[in-house]
Amino acid sequence: MLAQGCSIREFRQEDLAKVCEIESKAFPYPYPCYIFIIYYHLFPELFLVVECDKEVVGYSLGIIEHNTRGHLISIAVDERFRRRGLGEALLREFENRLKTRGVPEAVLEVSVNNVAAISLYKKLGYKIVSVLREYYPDGEDAYLMLKELL
Ligand SMILES: CC(C)(COP(=O)(O)OP(=O)(O)OC[C@H]1O[C@@H](n2cnc3c(N)ncnc32)[C@H](O)[C@@H]1OP(=O)(O)O)[C@@H](O)C(=O)NCCC(=O)NCCS
Repeated sequence: MLAQGCSIREFRQEDLAKVCEIESKAFPYPYPCYIFIIYYHLFPELFLVVECDKEVVGYSLGIIEHNTRGHLISIAVDERFRRRGLGEALLREFENRLKTRGVPEAVLEVSVNNVAAISLYKKLGYKIVSVLREYYPDGEDAYLMLKELL
């Protein structure tokens, strides 16, 4: 159950500035804003936002590769709204949308130092499948994590 006053819906173009703001505060190397529009046009149904009292406070964004694999590209929740189950709800909704399309697995990359995100992914059943050396611009390693959905 989502926190009171909060709901998940698909991204709309007027959400772009807010999504970019959340992204740039959440990551040391944020995606440029135009990337979100490209992904939106590719898989609009996999670009989700969470709104609380009509304010966009988080988002998740994903794609389907080769019709067989969901790939979470980015997920972030505004710092003021963390630890209320919103990130988990976004990820579960992303997975549900993949399952509805018969996509059997989901993958993602996460910094080996991102304790909060790794905990979220493990809670939902993602397993580390490999270490991607120097995946990030600052040389930090990433885990590739995978979950069987079907
Ligand atoms: C990762 C992130 C999206 C989680 O969002 P959130 O809404 O705060 O997470 P939730 O409240 O849904 O938490 C779900 C679970 O994740 C784990 N978790 C979340 N934040 C955590 C933290 N700070 N420390 C440890 N575990 C944490 C817990 O297992 C939690 O379950 P619990 O509440 O039953 O303990 C958020 O911390 C964020 O935006 N971080 C910055 C961006 C980022 O790193 N994104 C991931 C990139 S790979």
